[in-house]
Amino acid sequence: MIKVLFVCLGNICRSPMAEFLFKDMIREKGMEQFVTIASAATSSEEVGNEVHPGTRKILMAHGIQTGTKRAVQIKASDYEAYDFIIGMEQRNVDNMLRVFGKDEKHKISKLLDFTSNPGNIADPWYTGDFEATYQDVQRGLEAFYEHLVKSGVLRK
Ligand code: 4NP
Repeated sequence: MIKVLFVCLGNICRSPMAEFLFKDMIREKGMEQFVTIASAATSSEEVGNEVHPGTRKILMAHGIQTGTKRAVQIKASDYEAYDFIIGMEQRNVDNMLRVFGKDEKHKISKLLDFTSNPGNIADPWYTGDFEATYQDVQRGLEAFYEHLVKSGVLRK
């Protein structure tokens, strides 16, 4: 069993989008018994709030619902609890390092690091462009899945 935590600033836009798209991808591959997936915020700003309507609309277009998901904040114990802790942008990584201390086990990365075109995923909270976020999150997740297969963590 591997455990994956997606992290963004508020846990209402980008990281829940990654959480539910990856859950769907893993279910489609028939791998759900091997992977646990969750998401969390670095900030306390949105704790307890529902997934943003912009993210829910994109997910609904793909037949995906967010159920009872509410924003939660990362805690120090998450570092041991998860195997892959994946931020959306450098700011998320910097904030995580403040909570987790050093990344001695090299668990922390940014989602687009797994692609051939690394970078930050823009925050639709500010840009309003949830479709661009979706495109980035989706290509990041596909590359992350390939990484899990290539590194032998998952079988195809
Ligand atoms: P997210 O977007 O990090 O993709 O969930 C944000 C949502 C809310 C806030 C910031 C970013 N906020 O400051 O409340």
